[in-house]
Amino acid sequence: MLKKIFSGVQPTGNLHLGNYLGAIKNFVSLNNDNENKCIFCVVDLHAVTVSQDPKILKNNIRETVATFLASGIDPKKSIIFNQSQVSAHSEAAWILSCIARMGWLNRMTQFKEKAGKDKEKASVGLYSYPVLMAADILLYDTTHVPVGNDQKQHLELCRDIAQKFNNDFKVNDFFKIPEPLIQKEFSRIMSLKDGLKKMSKSELSDLGRINLTDEKDQISNKIKKAKTDSLPIPSKVEELNNRPEARNLLSIYASLTNLSLEKSIQKFSGKNFSEFKEILSQILIEKINPISIEIKKLLNEKKYLDKILLEGCKEADSLASKKIKKIHDIVGF
Ligand code: TYM
Repeated sequence: MLKKIFSGVQPTGNLHLGNYLGAIKNFVSLNNDNENKCIFCVVDLHAVTVSQDPKILKNNIRETVATFLASGIDPKKSIIFNQSQVSAHSEAAWILSCIARMGWLNRMTQFKEKAGKDKEKASVGLYSYPVLMAADILLYDTTHVPVGNDQKQHLELCRDIAQKFNNDFKVNDFFKIPEPLIQKEFSRIMSLKDGLKKMSKSELSDLGRINLTDEKDQISNKIKKAKTDSLPIPSKVEELNNRPEARNLLSIYASLTNLSLEKSIQKFSGKNFSEFKEILSQILIEKINPISIEIKKLLNEKKYLDKILLEGCKEADSLASKKIKKIHDIVGF
């Protein structure tokens, strides 16, 4: 069956190992399967839900494209574009915000986390952000959405919005109800400094994450300093239950080597973390360093990156503008 894949990444700089293992690695294998039609979007409209420096944003948009390409996404097979250049996204987001209910949005945990204690000062955009995400997905009749675990709730909201629109306007099946593609085991990579917190761009200390542009010595230094506990590596997955940092490092190893967590543990069972960390560093460097070199090379080819975006935008626009016309008709504009 032809799968229509859509996913987005914010161009907010510092794309990291969590983005790679939770999402981008999966984009690459979906891109490589000729049965799929993939669209990968640089979601710059989402990025401005918090304040951005315009010059840095422009560069970060290119850097996100460079990261897609360096990781192995082929622009001949997949559409790569930035959201702000296809106006149907903003328009559909408005219409869908009249379908989504306040009560649904009030339940979104990511807003609560990002807005923090001072909710009153958060932008309206940050609050309605998941509605824009629904617009992104629904405009392309997406069947599958590859994301990390943190986006699961937003996808459920997207499904609810699609269903309510179809019911309200009695247009059964107009919006396709998308399926999330979330990897079972490694869909939430945690901070290297705190195994209970997600690895993220916004963590103040850079030591919590491996950036995809990190140099070899930065990678080995961060792994050396990564928090662990004093016990050796166990022999069973269950024994990791109260050891979040140990579980995270072993999960990173497993995901990079395409092994299950169980097999990875068996390999190192009884060994101490200093020995394991050296091997993990080597594997990370083998995987991340070529991507990092390629990102830096591509960043010098601005025209090439802009051309990919321009062509991607044309293709995306031709699909999205057809869908938005139909939405106009249904709504009665
Ligand atoms: P963003 O830019 O925060 O993250 C991009 C992708 O990386 C995944 N991710 C992680 N996966 C595992 N462990 C982590 N620590 C980790 N951190 C990030 C995210 O789950 C995501 O898949 N709202 C989205 C972007 C978006 C989108 C969309 C996604 C906009 N429209 C439509 C899918 C479909 C976001 O802010 O992702």
